[in-house]
Amino acid sequence: MLVFSCFAFYLLFRTPAAGAHRQQIVHHDPAAPSYVKKIVAVGDLHGDLRNAQKVLRMSGVIDSFGDWSGEVDTLVQTGDIIDRGDDTILLFRYMDTLRGQAAAMGGEVLSIMGNHEWMNVIGDWRYVLSSEIKTFGSVQSRQRALSSQGWLGSTWWSNYTLTTRLPLHPMLGPPNTDYSPLSSIPSSISHSALSFVHGGLSPSFSSLTPYPSRPNAVARSLLHKLLTRHPSPLPHPPNPYPGLPPDATEEEHELYGGDGPLWYRGWALGTEREVCGHVDDVLDKIGARRLIMGHTPTFTNIVSRCDGKIIIIDTGISHAYGGVLSALAIHYTLTPNSTTYDFESGTQEYIEREVVSAVYEWKNEVLLDERRPVRGWWEGWD
Ligand SMILES: *[C@@H]1O[C@H](CO)[C@@H](O)[C@H](O)[C@H]1NC(C)=O
Ligand SMILES: *[C@@H]1O[C@H](CO)[C@@H](O)[C@H](O)[C@H]1NC(C)=O
Repeated sequence: MLVFSCFAFYLLFRTPAAGAHRQQIVHHDPAAPSYVKKIVAVGDLHGDLRNAQKVLRMSGVIDSFGDWSGEVDTLVQTGDIIDRGDDTILLFRYMDTLRGQAAAMGGEVLSIMGNHEWMNVIGDWRYVLSSEIKTFGSVQSRQRALSSQGWLGSTWWSNYTLTTRLPLHPMLGPPNTDYSPLSSIPSSISHSALSFVHGGLSPSFSSLTPYPSRPNAVARSLLHKLLTRHPSPLPHPPNPYPGLPPDATEEEHELYGGDGPLWYRGWALGTEREVCGHVDDVLDKIGARRLIMGHTPTFTNIVSRCDGKIIIIDTGISHAYGGVLSALAIHYTLTPNSTTYDFESGTQEYIEREVVSAVYEWKNEVLLDERRPVRGWWEGWD
């Protein structure tokens, strides 16, 4: 019977959905985790490759040569790589290099566009340094790079999203699987996922669900209009602010608006009562445990609010701000609870544990250490 249970477990975790992730199947020690996933999230980088690499190194994402180490399964970067510094080309190329190396080792890099990436495709170049334009050669070649024909526009189109739903429990499938309130996944597991976006998913945002496919589709539709705008708008300044294209829809305007996911600061700036009173509504709808975002910096530390339901990871990493170097690390495990083994059904309970830490240059701070029994998720395997 025990053998059967291990086998059922093995079958579950070798489904194609989970197959993309590095995983450990342990048969001999009942107290050892049967599934391990390590995630690192990094906030706004603003044109500073050196500090970006320091952060990736101290959180174990890369080795001392700057290559993907394989110690971490998933890196999420929540946008604002561009502006305020000179390393635009180096940073976006580096992210693509890591993405390739990660994929070759069974890991993944999930990239999110921030409001500054969008400003640049719109033609709002207020935070572009003239020294940075020189790295592209000229204004014209920078504009070309930012179009659908250019390398930067192409990688944003292919490798970046507006928002990401990252499942923790392997039963929830690969990254960006939609949350469906009607699915048969047991309620103890259905929200075992993290949500990442640059600014914030406000309670009033009307294109929220199904999450994340709907907001990502609205973003793609707008991005397509911007990348293919011909001729490219002349950059502002010195030219007037070009704004969104004339054929942008109402939904697309809302997406790029002050309360849209790119610019919203409510989760960071609202009072404890406002924020903690509304966060569950959003988490319920999107099938996630936590909203993780950058955009609103606190220059001293990563901020966890409402028992970790909201985590803000922008600490002003770039030398343009001189804040602290930081990364968020999530260590997720599933461990069988052998005392719950049921001979009749050949199943047992698992203990899901999530340790969320803020990693700084000289210290690690555990923000949360949560354990939950996971029940019923083996249904359908008997
Ligand atoms: C997307 O990232 C991959 C690395 O995984 C890179 O090889 C590719 O060039 C990028 N796509 C585009 C269109 O730049
Ligand atoms: C394992 O299950 C037993 C029985 O339900 C429970 O009393 C115990 O607390 C569980 N162990 C852990 C570590 O959760």
